[in-house]
Amino acid sequence: MAAGGRLDYHDTRARRATWQRRDRQESMATTPDQQGRRSRIFLAGHTGLVGGAILRALQDHGYEDLVLRTIDEVDLTDQARTRTFFAEEQPQVVILAAARVGGIMANWEQPYEFIQENLGIELNVIHEAFRAGVRRLIFLGSSCIYPREAPQPLKEEYLLTGPLEETNRPYAIAKIAGIELCRSLNREYGTSYLSLMPTNMYGPGDNFDLETSHLVPALIRKFHEAKMTATAPVTLWGTGRPRRELLHVDDLAAAISMLLEGEGWSDIPDGLVNIGTGTDATIAELAETVRKVVGYGGPIVWDTGKPDGTPQKLLDVSRARALGWEPRIGLEEGLKRTYDWYCGTVPEGERRT
Ligand SMILES: NC(=O)c1ccc[n+]([C@@H]2O[C@H](COP(=O)([O-])OP(=O)(O)OC[C@H]3O[C@@H](n4cnc5c(N)ncnc54)[C@H](OP(=O)(O)O)[C@@H]3O)[C@@H](O)[C@H]2O)c1
Repeated sequence: MAAGGRLDYHDTRARRATWQRRDRQESMATTPDQQGRRSRIFLAGHTGLVGGAILRALQDHGYEDLVLRTIDEVDLTDQARTRTFFAEEQPQVVILAAARVGGIMANWEQPYEFIQENLGIELNVIHEAFRAGVRRLIFLGSSCIYPREAPQPLKEEYLLTGPLEETNRPYAIAKIAGIELCRSLNREYGTSYLSLMPTNMYGPGDNFDLETSHLVPALIRKFHEAKMTATAPVTLWGTGRPRRELLHVDDLAAAISMLLEGEGWSDIPDGLVNIGTGTDATIAELAETVRKVVGYGGPIVWDTGKPDGTPQKLLDVSRARALGWEPRIGLEEGLKRTYDWYCGTVPEGERRT
């Protein structure tokens, strides 16, 4: 340990020297846009729903120096492997979209894996990014980690103001720890590590496995299978009464592209930004819209013995709007794109397994 209780490798002067060297390299480009696009970006979790959308957006915006690794190449719960990876690749910007993610059932049945793997990924990636001199990092939190009974719409400052939703508490605690890692580094070492708080997302690349999927892909798959096999009714979990906000994943990716091209991250209070539409509907209403898009004509039965989850999750998105972002993809259009992707990408045999 160095004087003052800090570890030697936390030496802030070394960090700042790295940043200054990189600033000089980046300023060889002519505009802030070009500077950003020349950055070496590690996108963790590029094979996932969110990571896949971010990858498409970065490629569309002309980012060329992207560092990508599958879990088989670098398991981010492995600290030694993650450290070696950062030392070898030296990214300048990190987008952390790798996580253990799932719906109510998966969270309920595997609470230990949800807290253990997410804590591991966050601690390894955020800490090793810091050690490697990364000054800008985007971490993904979630709207589902706000207190269960928080006033709606949810403002960023409501985080940690009350008890969490029981069904995903281990996941939420891991996510809150990730936000706190970023916030602490920003306060103590002057980094710019942002935490985005997206609402429920859906889109191409979603997970359609009914054991682990979220609301929209589960609805699409159930209605599609019922339509194809002419079976009815379709049974859905809960009462249908909780309210949910949905965002197409390409809208989140657009928010991230916009943020990467901008400055002033350190002015964002606690480095937290909600990303959502600011509007919601009941799960029953959302199910009806999905039913229409898929073309299933039969009835829906609600299994009220199953948990509902949080009664409402609606984000206040004024901070994101003030930064210049707003969603562009309407719900019905987004659902159509997702259903087309499902029909075109997932072979019929696999859709039914
Ligand atoms: N989906 C939503 O509605 C939603 C809403 C709010 C926030 N978020 C946040 O967005 C982030 C991404 O979610 P997502 O929906 O895109 O999840 P996802 O589709 O399950 O993707 C997760 C990604 O993380 C990778 N990964 C998992 N464990 C890893 C490990 N140990 N080492 C390396 N890579 C690992 C996965 O790789 P493999 O494919 O190889 O497993 C995959 O690329 C998460 O932080 C989540 O909390 C998602």
